[in-house]
Amino acid sequence: MARAPLNVLVTGGAGYIGSHVVRDLVQAGHEVTVYDSLYSGHEWAVLGADFVRGDLAERARLEWLLGSRNFHAAIHCAGHIWVGESVKNPAKYYFNNASNAFRLFDLCAQYGIRHVVFSSTAAVYGQPDEATIDEDTPLAPINPYGASKAMAERALQDVAAASGLTFAILRYFNVAGADAQARIGEATPDNSHLVKVALETAIGLRGAMRINGTDYPTQDGTCIRDYVHVDDLANAHLLALDHLTAGGDPFVANCGYGHGFSVRQVLESVRQVTGVDFPIETGPRREGDPAILVADSRRIKALLGWTPRHDDLERIVATAWAWERRLQDMRGERRLSA
Ligand code: UFG
Repeated sequence: MARAPLNVLVTGGAGYIGSHVVRDLVQAGHEVTVYDSLYSGHEWAVLGADFVRGDLAERARLEWLLGSRNFHAAIHCAGHIWVGESVKNPAKYYFNNASNAFRLFDLCAQYGIRHVVFSSTAAVYGQPDEATIDEDTPLAPINPYGASKAMAERALQDVAAASGLTFAILRYFNVAGADAQARIGEATPDNSHLVKVALETAIGLRGAMRINGTDYPTQDGTCIRDYVHVDDLANAHLLALDHLTAGGDPFVANCGYGHGFSVRQVLESVRQVTGVDFPIETGPRREGDPAILVADSRRIKALLGWTPRHDDLERIVATAWAWERRLQDMRGERRLSA
């Protein structure tokens, strides 16, 4: 049965994950407006949607936007994302990821937006003992990033209870990979994500890279994460929206595949896919890093029928590599035309 097109606001829709969500919403026939400050996003990444530049802190601008378009739903992807940075500059994370998110949710309720999908994170769990983490695991973040997202989750639940809007909280594990046609991908400046840093090293933008800690209680001593392809993650947002608009109950769900790779395993895959034997150093642990984060993903599969299509580390790395080379070309083209 064909679904009715929705009018959807996507905050952070010019960023890495948001732009993939926007691409799929547009492809599915929805009317999409992106609200993004371009602090770390790029207007060229917005494929086929309306773009409004603005910051979450600008209440009047948000009110103007919400008041002038009749949005059915909001997908809140905008946020700061760096665990290491959050330890050094917690206020930046609490203001943007918690206070600004709360303002947005409150405005959504005031302006009659019926459904909110929120980008949360595995970092809300902290460092649980379980081999795989399910959604009922108590939240115990060990860094300000995770704490700021846990606060926003709570705020959304409270706003929903008071207003009747319904929500989906998606707890992302480690997102990587890129659009299969390499039109969009991770282009966030000053990036510290493992796959991205490794690819930037392979392509020659960095002289060497460092493994953050080799003394973790894991098989090879390096941290283990559940790497999920951005296309599977984007699809989870569309399914969440379908669920909510069909009258489904609010929910919280992990987005991960349920198995992890160590830092060394990821770097080995990057060396194989790129064919570049780039230099790798070892260093101390990075503050705020839990040893192992792997999703129990049964809930999202059962509730939404989410069926991952790219659960393959080599494919994740290969699509990210194709994108990294495309990005290098784009930067070269811009330099030439400047
Ligand atoms: N790492 C290195 N060297 C690097 C970069 C990363 O060894 O140059 C290590 C990190 O220390 C960590 C692992 O690779 O052990 C993964 O680190 P990332 O920075 O790629 O990702 P994080 O697990 O810190 O965090 C990411 C997102 C968060 C999200 C989290 C969910 O940045 O937004 O995944 O698990 F919440």
